[in-house]
Amino acid sequence: MTRIFLVGFMGAGKTTIGRLLAERLGYAFLDLDEWIQEQVGLSIREIFERMGEAAFREMERRALCGLEVRDEVVVALGGGAFVSEENRRQVRRLGISIWLDCPLEVILERLAGTTNRPLYRSAEQMRELWRTRLPAYEQADLRVETGRRTPEAIVEEILRRLPLRPRRS
Ligand code: S3P
Repeated sequence: MTRIFLVGFMGAGKTTIGRLLAERLGYAFLDLDEWIQEQVGLSIREIFERMGEAAFREMERRALCGLEVRDEVVVALGGGAFVSEENRRQVRRLGISIWLDCPLEVILERLAGTTNRPLYRSAEQMRELWRTRLPAYEQADLRVETGRRTPEAIVEEILRRLPLRPRRS
C-alpha cells in the first residue's frame, strides 16, 4: 500500500506530520488544500467566499480522484474531506488512512486566532463540528493519538504500526 492519507480535524497536525512521515519514507508529500489553492489560484478562504463550500467540496472530490496516478505519496487531507462517504470509499480504494486523533482542547488552542480557515468561527461551533465528524474519522484504518506529543514521536509510532519500509533510493 503506497498511498497514505492523513485525516483528522483542523489543527490536528496533518500537514506537519505528513511532511515528516513522507521524508522518513522517502515518499512525496501532498497537501490536498495547498494543491487545490495552486490549481485555482485562490486561497481556501477566497474559494469559500467567492464560490461557496459546495464548490470547494467538489474540488476536494476531484483532487482525490486525481491521486490514482500518484504512487509512494503521503497525502494530508483537509479536515472535511473524509466526511463524505464517497471520498472515504476513494481513500480506501487508493491506500491506507490514518486518523490523527487530537483532543479538542489542544485543537482549540491551535485554532485560536486562525485566519485561513473559513469554517472556524467560535470554539462552540468547532466543538459541534468536531462531534459530528468523529464517526467519520473513526472509520480510518489506523488511529494515532497525537495530543501534545512531538511530530517526531507521532511519526515513529506510525512507522512502527504500519507495514511499510522506507524506499531505497
Ligand atoms: C476544512 C479544513 C481545512 C480546509 C477547509 C475546510 C474542514 O483544512 O480544507 O478550510 O472542513 O474541516 P485543515 O484541516 O488542513 O485545516
